[in-house]
Amino acid sequence: MVKFNRRQFIALGAAGAALVGSWLRRDISGRTVTSAPVDSASLYQSSNGLLQLDLEASERLVSLGGKQAYFLTYNGQIPAPRLEAKPGDRVRLHFTNNLNQPTNIHYHGLHIPITGNADNVFLKIEPGQKLIYDFQIPVNHPSGTFWYHPHLHGLVAEQLFGGLAGLFVVRGELDETPELKAAQEEFLVLQDFALDNRGRRSDSAHMSLMMGREGNVIMVNGRTNPLLELSDSGLLRLRILNASPSRFYRLALEDHAFYQIATDGNTLNEPIEINELLLTPGQRADVLVKRDKQSGQYRLLNLPYDRGNMGMMSGRGMMGRDNRDRPMVLATINYKSAVSSLALPVSLASISALPEPQIVRYFELNHGMSPAVGMAFLINGESYQGDRLDTQVKLNAIEDWELINTGVMDHPFHVHGNAFQVISRNGQAESLPAWRDTVLVKRGETVRIRISFNDFAGKTVYHCHILDHEDLGMMGNLMIEV
Ligand code: C2O
Ligand code: CU
Ligand code: CU
Repeated sequence: MVKFNRRQFIALGAAGAALVGSWLRRDISGRTVTSAPVDSASLYQSSNGLLQLDLEASERLVSLGGKQAYFLTYNGQIPAPRLEAKPGDRVRLHFTNNLNQPTNIHYHGLHIPITGNADNVFLKIEPGQKLIYDFQIPVNHPSGTFWYHPHLHGLVAEQLFGGLAGLFVVRGELDETPELKAAQEEFLVLQDFALDNRGRRSDSAHMSLMMGREGNVIMVNGRTNPLLELSDSGLLRLRILNASPSRFYRLALEDHAFYQIATDGNTLNEPIEINELLLTPGQRADVLVKRDKQSGQYRLLNLPYDRGNMGMMSGRGMMGRDNRDRPMVLATINYKSAVSSLALPVSLASISALPEPQIVRYFELNHGMSPAVGMAFLINGESYQGDRLDTQVKLNAIEDWELINTGVMDHPFHVHGNAFQVISRNGQAESLPAWRDTVLVKRGETVRIRISFNDFAGKTVYHCHILDHEDLGMMGNLMIEV
C-alpha cells in the first residue's frame, strides 16, 4: 500500500477538496489492542483557497467498538469527517438534511459571519432540504482546533448524542513551529453514547436530562480504547475535542505530563506543563507529550470528576455516571523507543491583554421554574425565548461579562463567534493569558470574561455547553449592532 504523509499529499495537488481515507494516515501498526489507525475519520482539505464538500446528515447503521447501532452521522461517519482550511480560504459546504427532524450546522469557535448561510444558528433545514453553507475564513484567523455540530434549539443534545460532530481545523502559523512540524499529530474526538447490551442506541427517556445526558460507552474517534502507536521521532501532539453533550473529561496520561499549547482554538504564549487536563463539553485543547519514559504502553485515563448534582437525581447506578467514582481508560499510547532530548517549543504566540471594558454585564446561571416551560435552566432568571433579545452590544465594543453560578451544578459557558479572555475567577485575577470560547463556571463560582465583538454584526447566542441545559433554556440571544 502506498503511503503519503499529509504534506506530500498536499504536494500531489489533488483537484478540489481532497477526500483522504484512513489509509493515508501515518503508519500506525497497532499490534496488540487494535489494527486500525487511531483516527479513521476521513479528511477534507482546502485546495487553491477553496474547501468544498458534500455533507449529508442521516441516520445510518455504523459499527463502533465492535457494536452495530444506528447513529446520527455526517456522511455515515462517527466522528464526522475532519475539515481543514487555511486563513483566507472560502468554504462551500453542500449540506443535505436526511434526518427525520430539522437541523442546521454551527461552526464552533470559528470567527466568521453569524448571518446568512454562514455560522447562523437560526437557520432551520427541514428533512429532505439542502443548503449551501458559504463563507470565508478571515485572512487573520488564528490557526487552531475548531469543530462543527448541529445547533437547532431543543434538538442540540439529542443530535450530538446521536453522533453528529466533527473537527474543523484551521491550519496556520502555529503549525509552522519547527517542533510542531516535527511532531506526530493525532486528533482525539471524545464522545459518549448510550448503547444497551445488544448494542442498540437507547433513547434519552431514562436519562437525567436535568444533569445532562451521559452515555455508558466512551469512544475516542469512534473506538473504545484505541492503541496509539508512536513513531520514533518528535513530540506527540494531541489535539483533543470534547464532543460529548454533557460529560466532562479529566484527562491524565500515566507517568507523563501534558504540555498545553492551545486552549480551545487559541494558541498560548508558551507550553504550560500540567498533569491533568479538564475538558468541559465544547472545549478543545492542544497538548504535547514527550516520549521520555521507558518504552511501553501508557494509558490515557479519564479521572473522576464531580460536576454537581440535583439532589435525588444524583443516585448511583444511573446510566453513564460511572466515572464519578473510578478512572476509565480512554486510549493506550505505545512507544518503542524513548527520547529524552526532545525540545519543547519555547515561545508560541504573544497574547496581549484586551483593553479595559466599556461596560460590565452580569449573567446569573441557575435553574428553576419558568412560567412558560416548567422546570428550566435560566440565565438571569429567564429561560430562552427565540424571539426575545437578551443582550445588545455594539460592534467592536469591549465588554466584561461576569458569570455568576448560583446553582448546584457546574455550567460551561460558551459565546458564539468571538473568543474571550478570562479575567478573574472568584475575584482572583487569572494569571495565565489565554483566549477561550468556552469557560467552566463551577457551582458557586463567579468568573469574569472580557470579550471584544469584532468584525461581524448580527444575531447569535451564548449558552451553557451542557447541551441539555441549553435545550432546556440556558441560552440567550445576543445582538451585535453596527
Ligand atoms: Cu458548540 Cu453553541 O455551540
Ligand atoms: Cu459554539
Ligand atoms: Cu449547564
